[in-house]
Amino acid sequence: MSAVSKNRRLSVKDIRARKGGEPLVCLTAYTAPVAAILDSRMDLLLVGDSLGMVVYGMDDTLAVSLEMMIAHSQAVMRATASAFVVTDLPFGSYEESQELAFRSAAHLMSESGCQAVKLEGGVEMADTIQFLTARGIPVMSHIGLMPQSVHATGGFRAQGLSQEDAERIAADADAVQEAGAFTVVIEGTSESVARRITERLTIPTIGIGASPACDGQILVTDDVLGLFSGFKPKFVKRYAEIGDAIANAADAYAAEVRAREFPSMAHCYGVPKKA
Ligand code: KIV
Repeated sequence: MSAVSKNRRLSVKDIRARKGGEPLVCLTAYTAPVAAILDSRMDLLLVGDSLGMVVYGMDDTLAVSLEMMIAHSQAVMRATASAFVVTDLPFGSYEESQELAFRSAAHLMSESGCQAVKLEGGVEMADTIQFLTARGIPVMSHIGLMPQSVHATGGFRAQGLSQEDAERIAADADAVQEAGAFTVVIEGTSESVARRITERLTIPTIGIGASPACDGQILVTDDVLGLFSGFKPKFVKRYAEIGDAIANAADAYAAEVRAREFPSMAHCYGVPKKA
């Protein structure tokens, strides 16, 4: 028998129960040190395939592999105890068939211990979401701007701005809920589309560039911290400038090494302590 942990992790049930209530606060996490800091401060941590861009310097998320997602999820799981942890299924690991999606999701969850998977797609992925949820895999869906489809849609552009496109995204939202998704990320769309979807769904909506109308918000942590300077979407707000702090620290270290000021005797072994 194991003792009941004081810091029980949030569960799918807890996340669903937040529909229409206190907003769900979510960020991405990719590494153990950052995940440890975010754990008690966030409801949900996403090991997002955005790591391809913000950690590995790729132009988009398409070359991210399942093995990369597993390694980063393991790091995040080791460092956390209370946040709900979801991991992205990367491009190519689920679209081909329901069976492939199940194998990838099961491998990801059993190797890392993450609690749910996220996959991109609406109506076209509904059967796959149903297949996974019927087999015990909690699915967070991702609709609107879908980064894994940037080449098909013509770039990182806001979606649902025409009436026709707004209808398409609303149909996607209905389809993923019907298929059993426990929550849906809506990326890069207007307030009216996000509000309409949030009002009609019974599962929580989590917005990224989708207005305050959603049941929760998520951002890429490296964007929030000022660590990623590739580009800054309109919806990002920087809460810190860690990139500048790193540059300043590196400059100070370099100057002291060049001036032979670091290391000082205080950083050396075998030096008797002053009485
Ligand atoms: O990969 C990612 O980081 C995402 C976002 C929703 C934050 O999918």
